[in-house]
Formats: sequence, C-alpha cells, structure tokens
Amino acid sequence: MIRSVVRGYGAALPKRVVTNRELEDMVDTSDEWIVQRTGIRQRYIAGEGETTASLGEQAARAALDKAGLTPDDIDLVLVATSTPNNTFPATAVEIQDRLGMTHGYAFDMQAVCSGFVYAMATADLHIRGGMAKRVLVIGAETFSRILDWTDRTTCVLFGDGAGALVLEAQEGEGTNADRGILTAHLRSDGSHKDKLFVDGGPSTTGTVGHLRMEGREVFKHAVAMITDVIEGAFDATKTTADDIDWLVPHQANRRIIDGSAKKLGIPSEKVVVTVDLHGNTSAASIPLALSVALDDGRIKQGDLVMLEAMGGGFTWGALLIRW
Ligand SMILES: CC(C)(COP(=O)(O)OP(=O)(O)OC[C@H]1O[C@@H](n2cnc3c(N)ncnc32)[C@H](O)[C@@H]1OP(=O)(O)O)[C@@H](O)C(=O)NCCC(=O)NCCS
Repeated sequence: MIRSVVRGYGAALPKRVVTNRELEDMVDTSDEWIVQRTGIRQRYIAGEGETTASLGEQAARAALDKAGLTPDDIDLVLVATSTPNNTFPATAVEIQDRLGMTHGYAFDMQAVCSGFVYAMATADLHIRGGMAKRVLVIGAETFSRILDWTDRTTCVLFGDGAGALVLEAQEGEGTNADRGILTAHLRSDGSHKDKLFVDGGPSTTGTVGHLRMEGREVFKHAVAMITDVIEGAFDATKTTADDIDWLVPHQANRRIIDGSAKKLGIPSEKVVVTVDLHGNTSAASIPLALSVALDDGRIKQGDLVMLEAMGGGFTWGALLIRW
C-alpha cells in the first residue's frame, strides 16, 4: 500500500526573542508566574516584513533542502494557519508563488492549534488517494498580530514561527513496520467554540479581531481530549505507550503536556518539549518541536512518533508516524 513518508523537515523563527522579563514591562505579570503556570520562558515575535507567508516560505525551503528536492518536485502546498497573510487568497498560494511554483495546487487549512495534525492527515489522504506524490505540509503562524497586548491572560502565552515537512508517496507492506503515517484521528466539537476564539472576522465585524480565551475551561478539557485521540491511535494500530519512541505534542502549556503523558503512561524522557523556547505557536508548534528533536538527533529514522494537538473549536487530533 502507499504510505506518506517524511523526506525532509525545516523550521523558521522571527529574529526577535521576547523574554518573560520583557513582558513584565508591558502587562502586570512576572517571569515566575509564567514559568510556573505554563513552562514558557521566551517566545519569538515577528517584526516588520516577517509574515506567516515569509516564515512559511523559509521553513519550506529548509525542508526541501533537507529532502534534496526543489519546488518542481512538489504537487501540493498545504498550509495550516489561523493567521493568514490575507483573508484570501490562501497563504499557501502566496508561498507557492514565493517558491516560484506555477504547477500543482495549494490551499490553507484552519483548525487552530490542531491545524498541523489536520493538515498531515489531509496530506496523507491526498497522497494515498493518488492526487499528489509529494506534499509540502507547512504550519505557519504570526499569533502576535491577533493578540490583545493589554490582556495578561493571553498575551504571555503565544509566539510566532513556522515549520514544514515534505511528505512523499512510498510503497509499504501495510504493517506497523512501514515508514510513514500509520494512522490519524481527528475530532472537533463546536459546542466549545466560545472558549477560545477571535472576536472579529470578515463576515461579522469586518475586522481581524483579537484572541479571547477562557484559559481554565481550555485546561479542563485538554488532557481528556488529547488522551482520547491518542488512545484511538493506539487501538487502531494495536500499539501501546511502550511501543512509541517519541511523543511530540502541540506546545501550549507544560502542565497540559505533562498531564497527558502521565495519564497515558508515557515517561517524560520520551516527550519532546519546546514550549519553554517558542511559547504556543499554534499550528507551527509541532513542526518546530520536530525540527528541534531531529536537529539534536533524538528522533531518528525508524522511530515511532506520536503527534497530538488540541485547540480552538475545540478541535483535537493525533497521528502516529514511523519516521
Ligand atoms: C492560562 C492559564 C496558564 C492560567 O492558569 P490558571 O492556573 O488557570 O490561572 P487562572 O486563570 O485561574 O488565574 C489565576 C490568577 O492569575 C492571574 N493571571 C492570569 N494571567 C496572569 C499573568 N500573565 N500573570 C500574572 N497573573 C496572571 C489571574 O488574573 C488570576 O488572578 P485572581 O486569582 O486574582 O483572579 C491556564 O488556564 C492554561 O494554561 N490554560 C490553557 C491555555 C492554553 O493552553 N490554551 C491554548 C490551547 S491551544
């Protein structure tokens, strides 16, 4: 059977690092509060000329370089983002153009912090359905541009960045020993839509709006939702927590990551954590975390890697992949 195998990875971060200490000058907060409640120590914030598309392009070029491929080899550019450059056209076509591609197709996906898991699952369907042989899957965000910088309950949590993977169709045996995506589990429940949202939009206010969140409500649901889809992925592949080499979670909050890993019986040595470095970069957080763990040699070819995310909507999902 056809499998979607990772051939290259890349990441991009804005130039400017903003530490918790710098935020103390902007809102009534402290480094101690932020570290204790979230694990975040710093985040990267986009400056002039740095956009979701420019960061996405940079990550995509790095992923193509690692794969030894050029834009000519790509059939589909799929961008997970909730902070597109414009309402339309899709940031994916903007990146397609920046890469000099006039062939193939490109579109955006919006599932907030679960966007990268949704995009990987979608890319896998396009590959296994025969529509695309190679897909650039990009998670790219500039959440700093939708934050209310006077609201201490949200502005300390998020950051900007982008990450990308090149997925390629390769023949597999149809067993768990195959490289590539083995299973994907997506969920959403719109009855929670008012717990994490942006208070503006083209069809309502005609403005971009700002991120609003009931943090405690999100926290309350996160661990149960994450463990639910991961257990779905274990059941579908007849695997257990002992079989996986790495858990690469969406990086929202250290306490949510630790709580989910503990509930699933996954030891902390197997969990990739980068929330301290990047903050919550929404759809970009998983590919950014992957690139750190691949660069430092933790994740190797053949490893069994579980990706998971939960975010606004609520949306949530998990994906099991053999590297
Ligand atoms: C946001 C979050 C860190 C807040 O932590 P918490 O322990 O729930 O804190 P609470 O909201 O109960 O607030 C506790 C106190 O800290 C205060 N506080 C909130 N933000 C603060 C900040 N940045 N600095 C200092 N104090 C802050 C609150 O005002 C509150 O004060 P009060 O008791 O005087 O009213 C936590 O709810 C969380 O992580 N939620 C999930 C958020 C998330 O990950 N969202 C993205 C999902 S993709």
